[in-house]
Amino acid sequence: MYLYLLGLLLFYYLYRWIRELPRVPDKGSKYVYITGCDSGFGNLLARHLDKQGFRVIASCFTEKGEEDLKKSCSGNLITTHLDVRSKESVAKVAAMIKDKVGQRGLWAVVNNAGVSVPSGPCDWLTIDDYKSMLEVNLNGVISVTLSVLPLIKKARGRVVNMASVAGRVSISGGPYCVSKFGVEAFNDSLRLNMAPFGVKVICIEPGYFKTNMSDPELLNNNFKRLWEKLPQEVKDQYGPDYLPKLMKVISCTIPHKVDGDLMKVVSCMDHAVAAVQPRTRYSTGWDAKFFWLPLSYMPTCVGDHIIRRMAIPIPKQVPPSL
Ligand SMILES: NC(=O)c1ccc[n+]([C@@H]2O[C@H](COP(=O)([O-])OP(=O)(O)OC[C@H]3O[C@@H](n4cnc5c(N)ncnc54)[C@H](OP(=O)(O)O)[C@@H]3O)[C@@H](O)[C@H]2O)c1
Repeated sequence: MYLYLLGLLLFYYLYRWIRELPRVPDKGSKYVYITGCDSGFGNLLARHLDKQGFRVIASCFTEKGEEDLKKSCSGNLITTHLDVRSKESVAKVAAMIKDKVGQRGLWAVVNNAGVSVPSGPCDWLTIDDYKSMLEVNLNGVISVTLSVLPLIKKARGRVVNMASVAGRVSISGGPYCVSKFGVEAFNDSLRLNMAPFGVKVICIEPGYFKTNMSDPELLNNNFKRLWEKLPQEVKDQYGPDYLPKLMKVISCTIPHKVDGDLMKVVSCMDHAVAAVQPRTRYSTGWDAKFFWLPLSYMPTCVGDHIIRRMAIPIPKQVPPSL
């Protein structure tokens, strides 16, 4: 019986592997627009797809990002400045792309740009902290997608959205998980809406990887900045040891927990863009596959218990007298 089940499982994986092998033809006439190419996954993907022969339109946040990328790519790659928070910037890039792609349309947009700070416990943050991140991680994704959707429909192309395991389970407080849950919801509704037009919408959900946004120094400076702005009453509730403990945990654990092999994620992004039969979702990294995703299916009380055990304990508060 067990052998029979094992055989079925092996057959399924073999069938899936063969089905997912073929790549789309005629890469040299397919344009792929990627956001956030200055560093991290976006940068690697731009270089990788350029090598594969795709026509890459790599948008960068900084001039330096554009210059560095140009130096390491072929003459086919186009770089452009993009701030996903700005309507004008998004529209300007969309107009340039419309001009370039003509009647062929745009093969794919990869919504990769994102930020990880400000982040912290919910009661350390203001609504402006939330808005500043949602503006990039969520509204930016929607705005860029809508700006080129008619071109993608023309090509019967793809939208690839960079979410996270933090869009499947609320790992931390603050706007990051809110933004990634939002990306998942946008991704799913767009997938259903676009299916009749032959447009594929694909979601990438990585675990923790070593990029600029998971840099312990960036995260700790962010915690310090938020702590300094807190009212004394909130600082007292957390206790004087909380911040140093939090910063120590971040400095000691993050470097061991993040995966340095960014190609694991980039290969999934590549498959989403280039495979004839891409998957609907890619969960990338051992932590995503074997910890965060299973956790997301557990009953709330079990998930909460596990996540709270991973958090730094807050000293017990004496309840206020009624
Ligand atoms: N690293 C992880 O563990 C992890 C896990 C799951 C999901 N992700 C997601 O993966 C995506 C890429 O992040 P990454 O890890 O590769 O980090 P990263 O190296 O910091 O890349 C983020 C990119 O977005 C750009 N960017 C920031 N604000 C922007 C704006 N307003 N407009 C346009 N571009 C902007 C950044 O430019 P600058 O470098 O110039 O600021 C950078 O190029 C993000 O969506 C992130 O949420 C990351």
